[in-house]
Amino acid sequence: MSTTRTIQVFIKLIPSILALRKDRRKWVKKEGKDVDLEKYRKNARKVLNTFISLGPVYIKLGQWLSSRADILPQPYLEELAKLQDNVPAAPFDQVKPIIENDIGLINEKFDDIDPNPISGASLGQVYRGRISGQEIVVKVKRPGIEKVVEEDLKVLKKILPMALRFVDPNLRFSARAMLSQFIETIHEEMDYTIESSNLKKIKHDMKKSNILVPSVYDDYSSKNVLTMEYLPGIKITNIEALDEKGIDRQKLVIDVHKVFFTMLLRHSLFHADPHPGNISVTDDGKLILYDYGMVGRLDNETRLRLIRLYLALVEKDPPRTVNAMADLGMLTPDFNRSVIEKGIELAVGAMHGKKPDEMEVQSLMELANKTMSKFPFILPKNLALYMRMASIIEGIYKTHKVDFKFVKVLREILEEENLIKDAYIEELKYSFQRFAKSIDATISIAPELKKFIDENRSIQFLNAKPKSNILLSGSILSSAIFVGSTVLYTSNESLGITGMICSMIIMSIFTIFRKH
Ligand SMILES: Nc1ncnc2c1ncn2[C@@H]1O[C@H](COP(=O)(O)OP(=O)(O)O)[C@@H](O)[C@H]1O
Ligand SMILES: [Mg+2]
Repeated sequence: MSTTRTIQVFIKLIPSILALRKDRRKWVKKEGKDVDLEKYRKNARKVLNTFISLGPVYIKLGQWLSSRADILPQPYLEELAKLQDNVPAAPFDQVKPIIENDIGLINEKFDDIDPNPISGASLGQVYRGRISGQEIVVKVKRPGIEKVVEEDLKVLKKILPMALRFVDPNLRFSARAMLSQFIETIHEEMDYTIESSNLKKIKHDMKKSNILVPSVYDDYSSKNVLTMEYLPGIKITNIEALDEKGIDRQKLVIDVHKVFFTMLLRHSLFHADPHPGNISVTDDGKLILYDYGMVGRLDNETRLRLIRLYLALVEKDPPRTVNAMADLGMLTPDFNRSVIEKGIELAVGAMHGKKPDEMEVQSLMELANKTMSKFPFILPKNLALYMRMASIIEGIYKTHKVDFKFVKVLREILEEENLIKDAYIEELKYSFQRFAKSIDATISIAPELKKFIDENRSIQFLNAKPKSNILLSGSILSSAIFVGSTVLYTSNESLGITGMICSMIIMSIFTIFRKH
């Protein structure tokens, strides 16, 4: 079974892989200029249709690829972003046993469940119902979906190494990283207990903000069933309905950015799937967020590095931008600093001049996408979901076309959440570390120094003039304390700083000693 599917998928995918390989090479060579965009879009649409014909796993894969500026040329990204995950729901008599098996008899546990679904997607479908008179929704996993997904992932894992033989090494690296994260996320999405805990964490993190997150009915939820309070609203892209209610759409776009970037920059967990179906608006303009199956996590270090990147871009500082990008692992190790700084300088100029409404990091990605040959960048695993989130959010802004300055909103978030100070401390820490690294290089010649001291010591004994090497020993001791302190600084700031001050005092004392 699996072999037939592998062959079938491979044959279907070959034309897409070949077209993409050709288009990408040309795109990189010509830096996205003077290319036949219509031809690119046409090829991209063929890829899109191939993914649709291959089923749910490939539809999801296509959606993932649509935010990978390091893998696909821009026109492909735009076309694949149109992939919809709408599938007719499974008949209720196939869904009912899943609910009853996990939760109990519908007649006993629920007042009722409407067998007509309100939504159907590849992994699950959602129904309305009531429990003790309260309106609820029940999200139920699609019958048999686990088996379909496992089979297809197996096939994908087999095909990818074959397919990647055709592409260049940079792309190979990015594609492998993407696949492993895709697999991880799709598994998480299929376990509603994970979705439930993501939802609760985000609800708790964002309790001071103005958004609505449905409450979960724990006793009515399992790995395959998720029961929540019913929170209806107007879809965020339904301009007509929003205008009818007199909702301020400019404020709405700002709020969406604030909510998602606060999750990203302030908390460790963020909603990574803000497509329009997952965001609604209440009649009084509040945002409702659904669907916590796909979330991204940023560790504290990465979060602060990302804030450093934003600050460097907002402050138009190319060298610091490159430092932050390098620390984030966004540049290949052999990057040419001056070329990248120059590119960023141009991009920053464009961002603050002609295109003030664009997102900073997004524009950077676009620049990198067009200049891949000169600007070899990689999207590290921990930033892939962030890029996805940012590019979908940008789509919402583009739908509304309201006056909006991302830089301004970003600054507000950083100030409101008191994040600027932390980022500067981080910046300082990195400066110390860079400094420490240069001292480290000196320390590595320590055996030579030891030999020198030993030899000197014997001369000292002969000459009986002990003071001459005091300064040298002092500087070694003080450097050692300084290096230790910079390392310590990462875990304990005040101890680190105390250490650094001590090392300076030691150096001064030894200098004075020598003079006497
Ligand atoms: N708590 C809720 N209240 C009202 N509608 C909801 C609720 N949860 C989900 N929905 C509706 O059902 C749709 C699908 O739910 P979602 O959680 O996004 O499922 P999927 O993972 O299948 O995309 C949403 O787009 C929304 O319209
Ligand atoms: Mg959804």
